[in-house]
Amino acid sequence: MNSLNVKDEMFEALLEYLQQHHGFQITGYKRPTIFRRVSKRMKMLGIEDFGRYKDYLQVHPEEFSELFNTILINVTSFFRGPEAWDFLAKAILPKIIAEKKENHPIKVWNPGCASGEESYTIAMVLAEALGDDVFRSSVKIYATDIDEVALAQARQGTYKTADLQEISSPLRQKYFEPSKDNFEFRRDLRRSILFGRHDLLKDPPISKLDLLICRNTLMYFNSAYQKKLVANFHFALNDKGYLFLGKSELLLSHYNLFTPVDKRYRIFSKVRNVNSRDRLLILTQASYHEAVNRPGS
Ligand SMILES: C[S@@+](CC[C@H](N)C(=O)[O-])C[C@H]1O[C@@H](n2cnc3c(N)ncnc32)[C@H](O)[C@@H]1O
Repeated sequence: MNSLNVKDEMFEALLEYLQQHHGFQITGYKRPTIFRRVSKRMKMLGIEDFGRYKDYLQVHPEEFSELFNTILINVTSFFRGPEAWDFLAKAILPKIIAEKKENHPIKVWNPGCASGEESYTIAMVLAEALGDDVFRSSVKIYATDIDEVALAQARQGTYKTADLQEISSPLRQKYFEPSKDNFEFRRDLRRSILFGRHDLLKDPPISKLDLLICRNTLMYFNSAYQKKLVANFHFALNDKGYLFLGKSELLLSHYNLFTPVDKRYRIFSKVRNVNSRDRLLILTQASYHEAVNRPGS
């Protein structure tokens, strides 16, 4: 097992197989991460080389979802990075709310939402700022992920007591209702959150957004795809929109598309006057890297 090598031709052949037969845009992910996760899965099965693992996948198609789960990792929590959420609530949301004209909904996109904790967190923070009635009538949260299993959990909006420990007791009591041994996020507010499958590497972005929350997800992708996604996010946001990334993610300074509002909390505002030539350049570079990095090419 120690002899496995990221430059192994059979590893490339395996990636090619996964891309062609399962439509999984595996080239977009950081190669060392994919290598580690595939190796981990093989170790669990006692398979020692990539060629044999590819054969195994052909004979056991159900193995793909096990591998997919090992690769995606849905770790998440409510109010992850609480100081960043506090900053968002106090310094950013009031600006977004003040900018909104009557009858224009506040539009939020939360790609990489996993099992929904982050999407319900922004729902609680917005409902606190707006009040329940205004929240219900004027907020739309699009919460997306590539992983259908995580999305099914998110749609249920039901969590164990242990999952709720990051939520303050007043918020927990206000927004969750007991349901058997668990707690369910209030249904009347859940209608404003639309969960759906969306592959960041393949599907077009949701647009006209006031806030885009994509945390701890970009870091799985290689730099060409990160660049492409940052350009997509720029396009997706309204001129006065904000981007909220995860703690250990890129600072975007060399992209010229976003300015940090607060570097520690990875909150950025959109640079408005990027000319379309610059944006096109970024997208073209990304497509070039994509072509160069394709397995087998
Ligand atoms: C570590 S979780 C982050 C969850 C949450 N945003 C947070 O910060 O707590 C990363 C999520 O990205 C999702 N993901 C991975 N690749 C994706 C893709 N190509 N398109 C959309 N979501 C993807 C995974 O399924 C997973 O749910």
